[in-house]
Amino acid sequence: MKQQILESLRNASTVVSGEALSAELGISRVSVWKHVRKLQSLDYDIISTSKGYQLVRSPDVPFPWEIPGRASKIHYYPEVTSTMDVAMALARDGCPDFTIVVAGRQTKGRGRLQRTWQSGEGGLFFTVVLRPDIPPALGSKINLAAAVDLATTLRRMFTIDVKVKWPNDILTQERKLAGILLQMEAEADRITFMNIGIGLNVNNHPVAEVPSAVSIKEILGQAVSRKKILSEFLDQFETRMKRKTLNDVIDQWKRLNATLHRRVKIITTSEQIEGMAEDIDNSGGLILRLDNGRTRTVIFGDCFHQ
Ligand code: BTN
Repeated sequence: MKQQILESLRNASTVVSGEALSAELGISRVSVWKHVRKLQSLDYDIISTSKGYQLVRSPDVPFPWEIPGRASKIHYYPEVTSTMDVAMALARDGCPDFTIVVAGRQTKGRGRLQRTWQSGEGGLFFTVVLRPDIPPALGSKINLAAAVDLATTLRRMFTIDVKVKWPNDILTQERKLAGILLQMEAEADRITFMNIGIGLNVNNHPVAEVPSAVSIKEILGQAVSRKKILSEFLDQFETRMKRKTLNDVIDQWKRLNATLHRRVKIITTSEQIEGMAEDIDNSGGLILRLDNGRTRTVIFGDCFHQ
């Protein structure tokens, strides 16, 4: 109902009477008023006079009804510990493919390798639950696919040079704009579900905590719409997942990458490896040329461009 009221108010450039809304939506005028009050409490600037209602401004909050065609599968929380926790519970409970958990803030946002993910107001924090019918070994390709689709969405929407960094960071001007975290549960030959968590610095200021990070607002000098970014990314990523082929991901990743043909240092939980990043293999592993001339493929770790 909120979605319908907002649509009617957006379509009319002027005041819409309570009577007209009630007739259009088939609900009483008191009901219309209650929904408007609720929207106002969610920070929608709706002027309410004796003549009716006028929408002046909508907040840039990715409420389910703000993301076209996805209201029933988006779970929005103003604050959670981590969207990964909520998504995990929903996934174990059998939620459908492409369920999305999105939060305004996270109190325990986490990154790869047990790191904290700064999750303050203005950022975009969400997890997509996927149920791909593929073997677990192909899981890392989905990870790369999410990075490619996020990078291309941002390149299309804004004039910023966005690149992907191995294994799955999104950079601009060599600074981190977004990170992706993957969690999955699988049986021997089939993925049960795979949760892809994305943290994107949009209108927040991550640099205060993480000097090597940057937000879109800091780059462009103006705030941009988180709702639009989320909606466009989800459309692109879902279209890819529906095609059921991941054959093109590696080439697409290579075209957008900032890591290959550079000297890198990889830090894993148990060791540190340095070398030239030569290529990635068909499962997304990074092929390094070591100083002794040998090659070595690493499948996880933190990557530092030298
Ligand atoms: C990384 O680069 O280390 C990955 C960062 C992933 C952060 C996102 S924010 C949404 C989701 N919830 C979390 O707690 N983490 C991921």
